[in-house]
Amino acid sequence: MAFETLLTEEQIAERVKEIGQEISADYAGRTVHLICVLKGAYTFLADLARAMSVPVTIDFLAVSSYGKGKTSSGEVQLTKDLDVSLSGRDVIVVEDIADTGITLSYLLAMLESRQPKSLKVAAFLSKPSRREVEVPVDYVGFEVPDRFVVGYGLDDDQRYRELPYVAVVVD
Ligand code: PRP
Repeated sequence: MAFETLLTEEQIAERVKEIGQEISADYAGRTVHLICVLKGAYTFLADLARAMSVPVTIDFLAVSSYGKGKTSSGEVQLTKDLDVSLSGRDVIVVEDIADTGITLSYLLAMLESRQPKSLKVAAFLSKPSRREVEVPVDYVGFEVPDRFVVGYGLDDDQRYRELPYVAVVVD
């Protein structure tokens, strides 16, 4: 397995800090409820939360998608639900990547029905060329080309999530 670095640790740290500051300015005086979409988003969420200066609460959910990119938006399953109600909360869904948009589209519909005070999305990466479903991504770390990327939470068959940088797998 060979890797080509796409985003260095320094580039990531700088951008995550910027997003943290942007969110903090947008939510000044409020508490932000961050939802980590397991598993890939755990690294981004941990760094983002520490880059924010407004108070934060954190919850976790997990989804699994089947036939991703090939089938309809119905084929996403919630495999771990949130622990607390979203009612009255300012919620930001934190994702590692928006690819086809199918997962986020499913999640936004489900979370909206729980009547949060507000609902936005932060995605570390976005592959706009892969989008099949239009989804609003309010905060984007980096737009990346349609290449298979690992690291900073993103995996190849559960491996390489721990890499502190983002790499393209070249063979
Ligand atoms: C990835 C990623 C998003 C989804 C994005 O999850 O974390 O949840 O795919 O793809 P989409 O926009 O095409 O729906 P994955 O199924 O790889 O699980 P993981 O987070 O546990 O790695």
